[in-house]
Amino acid sequence: MVNAKTIHQENLTDRLIDIRQELHRYPEVSSKEFQTTERLKAWLTEAGYSILPLEVETGLVAEIRGDLPGPTIAYRTDIDALPIQEQTGLPYASMIDGVSHACGHDFHMTIALGAAFTLAEKKEELRGTVRFIFQAAEETTQGARQLIEAGLFEDGQIQAIFGVHNQPGIPAGKVGVTDHHLMGAVDTIKIKVTGKSGHGAIPQHTVDSVVAGSAIVMGLQSAVSRNIDPFEPVVITIGSFQSGTTHNVIAGSAELFGTVRSFNPNVRAQLPQLIERIATDIAKGYGAEAVLDFIPQVPAIDNDQAMTQIVRESVEEVFGNDAVVKPEPTLGGEDFSLYQQYVPGCFFWVGTGDDDKGVNKQWHDPAFLVNDEIIPDAVTTVVRTLEKALEHFRLNKEEK
Ligand code: NI
Repeated sequence: MVNAKTIHQENLTDRLIDIRQELHRYPEVSSKEFQTTERLKAWLTEAGYSILPLEVETGLVAEIRGDLPGPTIAYRTDIDALPIQEQTGLPYASMIDGVSHACGHDFHMTIALGAAFTLAEKKEELRGTVRFIFQAAEETTQGARQLIEAGLFEDGQIQAIFGVHNQPGIPAGKVGVTDHHLMGAVDTIKIKVTGKSGHGAIPQHTVDSVVAGSAIVMGLQSAVSRNIDPFEPVVITIGSFQSGTTHNVIAGSAELFGTVRSFNPNVRAQLPQLIERIATDIAKGYGAEAVLDFIPQVPAIDNDQAMTQIVRESVEEVFGNDAVVKPEPTLGGEDFSLYQQYVPGCFFWVGTGDDDKGVNKQWHDPAFLVNDEIIPDAVTTVVRTLEKALEHFRLNKEEK
């Protein structure tokens, strides 16, 4: 166990690397981050943070009030791990069978802690309040929603929010920052197809839900290519198709389970109707019936221009003038976007890629690695971002 009391005496970077390795050893899957939450709580209270009384089972929000008055800015890190057996061969590999930090959320927590410790030491000169959100269950896109429902924005104090994800696809020393969409909207679809079962050799008395369901799967692919502007990315993936009990009985029902990804909110808004029309009309053509359940998950990451500018300046200050790169967006989802529905924010990618060190596996790979060398600059970038954001909203208020 790392003793937080020594943080002020020892070199912060060494301490953070110890913390990172400890978090890495004891990963916990989404919504089960009990030990992680306890560890974080101990480190943060020791550093002078108060834990806000939000009712969430795992995760926490830690607050520091500067000695000088000013606005409130939030910084969010995710804390959960994945149900993946680690295959990195690291000396500090996961001690938990079948669970590992294969998305680098241990790295994100460490950066947040580093920024939290640094700001705690500068409390006398801090103009305003910073809330560090250690969010559970990012991988299942439940955590942000739970915190919001628990009242994260209820007191109306938070003016803006920032967050970081590692990106092995960007070289170490570079940072991906954009004020356009960075990550996609995620929605879930369930399509229930109902036909009429019967003997496998006597189809004329049945309505085959497997055939109707298969036609719907194919039809949904053309839904994208024939109905959506080709310059607007949309993906519809049916990942699960459940039907039937045995080989010689025509199945009376089928259930299709899929994920839908998009960027543009206007395009996203059209999708439930489009998918429903295709599914129900195709089913009808086969004499079957289809019912769509469209379950919205998270919108696309939508970075605010002014907040993005603050991040860009901070990155250039810390990593160097040419460090900002334009990231290639992904339709992978990230529930940070839910916070952006309430306050302006910027989510950005810190490059960790380094072929010589083997840091080139993508997120969720069993051999996924992060890059501890980036920690000091990432911490300083977050600190500078938060300071600049406090300044931005303080000056804004004075102008008014
Ligand atoms: Ni992740």
